[in-house]
Amino acid sequence: MMPKINWIIEQYDCVDSTLDILKEKAQQGAEEGLVVYAQEQNQGRGRHGNVWHAPRGNLYMSFLLRPNCAPSVAGQYSFLVAVALSKAIDEIIEGGHEKHLKWPNDVLIDGKKIAGILLESEISSDGTVKDLYVGVGVNILTPPKDAIAVKDISTQDIDVHSFLSLFIKKISESIDILNKNGFLFICNAWLSEAYKLNETIRVRLPHETKHGVFKGLDKDGTLLLKLDNGAVERITAGEVYF
Ligand code: BTN
Repeated sequence: MMPKINWIIEQYDCVDSTLDILKEKAQQGAEEGLVVYAQEQNQGRGRHGNVWHAPRGNLYMSFLLRPNCAPSVAGQYSFLVAVALSKAIDEIIEGGHEKHLKWPNDVLIDGKKIAGILLESEISSDGTVKDLYVGVGVNILTPPKDAIAVKDISTQDIDVHSFLSLFIKKISESIDILNKNGFLFICNAWLSEAYKLNETIRVRLPHETKHGVFKGLDKDGTLLLKLDNGAVERITAGEVYF
């Protein structure tokens, strides 16, 4: 049996990025399970080098995992965290909203982004992932333009702290599922809510855009795209457009 993660939560007021604080703490010997969250970030970062605007009112958190696995396997956590987030949202969402998971780890409600997940890592000299830094931003009260927030989907009085506790509980449960049953269970949970599964999508890669039918995920979470010529392309990184 894998030991349960002991979550230790540290709160900050305003920081540049909770990912940077977490990295500093990890380098100083912090244990797996450290969660750093802040009311505001001045230099929040998102995927693909984007800025993540981080005004007061939302959740900005980063937590430390020590998976000691190959870098390709560490990508599984991006799906695990998206599934955990989705399960947390299930507990508070009112009827009449549609929730989907967009590859690799966006959670969309009514087609709009409610949260973002960014994984960064420290690789040890033997090539395994020593530290995995999982950064998550969840819109609670102040969504950016064209996004959606927890306050828009729930009549419950949910603040940053209550959502954080609920989310950590779901992350723990999802890690238990991964450890007991394997990634296939996480993968299937993710696929059951996948946006545009078996439909045509466009994937923007660094130098080109590919069109094809989204056929699912492989064992590492790689996107399987069936091209017009029938070949199945494996996409490991990119932005999906619909
Ligand atoms: C995305 O582009 O969808 C990912 C956004 C991740 C934002 C979070 S907020 C907490 C953590 N600190 C950061 O600087 N970024 C992540």
